[in-house]
Parts: sequence; C-alpha cells; structure tokens
Amino acid sequence: MSDPRPATHRPAAVVILAAGEGTRMRSTTPKVLHRLLGRTLLGHVLAACEPLAAGHTLVVVGHGREAVTASLPGHARSVVQHDQHGTGHATRLALEDIPAAQGTIVVLPGDAPLLTTDTLARLIAAHEASTAVATVLTTEVADPTGYGRVIRTAAGDVVRIVEHADATPAERAVREINAGVYAFTAEPLRQALGALSTDNVQGEEYLTDVIGMYVDKGLPVRIAAAGPRETEGVNDRAQLAAAARVIRDRIVTGWMRSGVAVLDPETVWIDVDVRLEPDTTVLPNVQLQGATTVAAGATIGPDCTLIDTVVGAGARVQRAHCDRAEIGADVSVGPYCYLRPGTRLGPAAKAGSFVEIKASEIGAGSKVPHLSYVGDATVGEHSNIGAGTVFVNYDGVAKHRTVIGSHARTGADNMFVAPVTVGDGAYTAAGSVIAQDVPAGALGIGRARQRNIEGWVERRRAGTAAANAAARAADPQGSGHPPDGGQPPDGGPADGEVGTGR
Ligand code: UD1
Ligand code: CA
Repeated sequence: MSDPRPATHRPAAVVILAAGEGTRMRSTTPKVLHRLLGRTLLGHVLAACEPLAAGHTLVVVGHGREAVTASLPGHARSVVQHDQHGTGHATRLALEDIPAAQGTIVVLPGDAPLLTTDTLARLIAAHEASTAVATVLTTEVADPTGYGRVIRTAAGDVVRIVEHADATPAERAVREINAGVYAFTAEPLRQALGALSTDNVQGEEYLTDVIGMYVDKGLPVRIAAAGPRETEGVNDRAQLAAAARVIRDRIVTGWMRSGVAVLDPETVWIDVDVRLEPDTTVLPNVQLQGATTVAAGATIGPDCTLIDTVVGAGARVQRAHCDRAEIGADVSVGPYCYLRPGTRLGPAAKAGSFVEIKASEIGAGSKVPHLSYVGDATVGEHSNIGAGTVFVNYDGVAKHRTVIGSHARTGADNMFVAPVTVGDGAYTAAGSVIAQDVPAGALGIGRARQRNIEGWVERRRAGTAAANAAARAADPQGSGHPPDGGQPPDGGPADGEVGTGR
C-alpha cells in the first residue's frame, strides 16, 4: 500500500500487546483470533496499523502463541512473552527485540478492533510535533470501571495514570480513561521500562507507570483525544458483538458512499475483503463474506449468504446460499437456491427455486428452473433441464460426471445416472432414468410404457366416490345401475401393487 504521509511520521515500530489469555471469552480460541466481519480482532488492529508503514511491526504473544503467530501477515512478527507479567513487561520484551530502533514507538492493545489508521496517524503526528517523550490516547467515558484513569493537576497537567484496582474512590470518579494506545520516544522508554516495579495490587509491571515516572522527572507528556467507541476493547462475546456492529456500520456506510444501494443497513453484513461495484443493490438480510465480489447492476437479496462468490454484472440473486460459486452476468439465482463450491453459471443462465448445484458448469442461457440437484455436470449453452431432475453422480464409491450438450431439452423428473452424456439438440422424455448416452438430436426415453386397465376402479373399488365418479363419467344420464364387480380381464395388478398415493 502506498503511503502519502511524510517519512518523519512513520513510526520506528508498532508494538501490539496480545499475550493475554482473554478468559472472559470462555473459549479455546485465543481472544485476539476471534473474528468479526471476516477478520480476527488482531487482524483489524494490524490492518489499522499497516498504512503507518512502521519500521517494525511486533506482536507480543503468549497464550495461544502458535496460532496467533501463524495468523500474522508478512509485515508483522511475533515476540514471545512466556509469562504475562504485565503490559510494561510485554513492551520491554518487544523493545529488546529491536535494540537499535530510534524515534517513535507506538504501543497498542491487540483487542481494540475499532481503532482507525486516522486516529493512530493523528497520535503520531501530535507526538512528533511536540517535545513530549510520551503521548497518551485518552477519552471520556460514561462508565470508566476497569480502565486506568488519567490523573491531572488542578491546572490540567497530567500527573500519572492509576489503574482501577489501585485507585482511590476519588480517582475512580475520574471519567477520563487511558485507551492503552501510546506514542513513545524510544530511548527514554527503554530506560523507564527497565525501572518499573511490581509494587501494585496486581503485582504486574504496568506500562502506565512510565507516565508518572516521566512527570516526576520533569519530562513532557502529552494527551491526544480519541472518539469514545474507537478505544473500546473486546473482553467478552457481548463486546465482540457490539464491536462487530460498529465495524459493520462503517463498512456498509463506506459502500453506500461509493455507490452501492443498501436498503436496510442494519441487516446487511459485508466482510472487510468483499468488493462491490457502484450501482449494485443489496436488499435486507444479506451476508457477503470472504472474497465475494459483486459487479455493477447486480441485485443481491433479500435473504442471501454469499461466501467467496463472484457475481457478474446485472445478475439477480434472491434467497440463496452460495459458497465459492461463480455467477455470470445477467444470471438469475433463486428464490431458494443452494450453490455449492465449483458451481459456474454462464451469462444469462438460471438456477431457480429449490435447486442445488455443485461442481457443475451451466452454460450461457441454460436453465435449471425448478426442484433439481445438479452435481458434477457440464451443461452446454441454451439447454433446459426439466423440473425435478437429479444428476445421479454417486454410485456409492465414486463420483461420476454427466455431460449435457447445447440446445438440449431434458424432460421433467429425469435421473441422469452418471457417467452419461446427452448430445447437442437432444431431448429426453419426462420421467426418464437416463443411464445410457443419448446421441445428438435423439429423443431418449428411459421409462416403462404406460398401459391402462379399463374399468378397474368400478370393479375393484365398487361403492367408493371414485367408482361412482367413474360410473357417472361412463354414463352421464345415470341409469342408476350399480357397477358390476368381476375380475380384471387380463389378470391385472393385485390391490397391493396399486399405489394410490394415500
Ligand atoms: C490496560 C491499561 C489501562 C487501560 C486499558 C485500556 C495497563 C497497566 N493498564 O489495562 O490503563 O485503561 O489497558 O484497555 O497497561 N498484555 C500482554 N502481556 C501482559 C499483559 C497484558 O501482552 O503481560 C496485553 C493483553 O493481551 C491486552 C493488553 O496487553 O491485549 C492490555 O492488557 P490488559 O490486561 O487487558 O490491560 P487492562 O487491565 O485492560
Ligand atoms: Ca483490556
């Protein structure tokens, strides 16, 4: 990513503290790896930092360190903190990893996904524009419980930061809190971190104690203000959901500003890596996930989930679940359609209602309109697949492919028993089980020939409403004679063989 900011505002290092356990998540997944909008908590923090183009991006890891380290992008690397002795200890280990770094060191928590690049850049610019050796991001909150409080003199000068656990009742009444985000000048920080004590209620090396040490020595400390939501950390799943809503709103607002129509923003969830062209429309209850892309003029929704799916220009997708599918231009999908991985729908194709497709290519203009399963198939162009068709792709051991040519018209309620091929321009009869190839231009019929046993109902179901209706149909004037019984003339089916559908 190109960076328009002057090089002097590039920090020497960004240090992200992410070694904590996050017990309140009550999860086997490390806290910073919980996901929102297609990205982990830590991923959001890293994404906010990336445009700062820091000389080093270090992530202090501890709990779940293998998984957290494996999740890091190429520009970041991990520093292991085996035992969590506090934020000051964590920062000290990171600086020991970059002994030569000079200039600005940004320190921030790995569980604050709402922080923006803009706020971090302002923090760095404010720090570098002053003589301060530390600039602390703070904000006023209605309920400061749990946070470190910023203690100032009557004149407003910062004195120190006191942790909630160590604060007096008067200090706890302070509503200006430490966001846990700082710009430090490297050299004084190294010295201060070496002098931290664990003489506090939690027995930890507090990074926040550095501020009071600077003030005591007469070194200048500054405050930078952040918006309230940006500094909210995630400690439990309720806070995770709250943060997700904030990010959702930012993403959806961004897309609306760039020309996407979103009719009900509160029910639309668009992952960070999704791309939409202008003049697309997103209707209520839609989740666009992963690397999904939507081209201009397409309409998605209502009620769709698209995962890693490509949607072409002008396509219409409604009430569909699509996973790794390619939907061509002007295609119609749904309502009530399930497209599984490997589905490719050519331009102006259709996958209609109660249709499931996987690992299949449907050519341009071809239609699967109703109630069908298409698996492991190739369908040519401008063919029509009859309602209620199943592509029988699995013999219990292996999967096989079906190939249907172009301009073919297959009948309703067909079974294509793969491997089988239907040629260009071929037809198949309704109700067929097609287990042998159908040559181009042929009509394939794969079903028993129908025969009718005349008078069967009046003989074998005498006295029923059906028999009476049959009698009236045979004799509309109604002579009044009850129909006679008797046997079918040619030894017709026994009763048990007659399915009445009841
Ligand atoms: C910290 C601040 C507090 C501030 C709050 C903002 C300190 C002493 N307190 O408190 O003033 O208001 O953040 O959210 O810094 N971590 C490590 N190693 C450790 C300890 C923590 O990597 O040994 C990481 C955690 O994983 C977390 C971050 O540092 O990402 C903050 O630690 P946490 O224990 O949550 O600090 P708070 O008590 O919230
Ligand atoms: Ca915290």
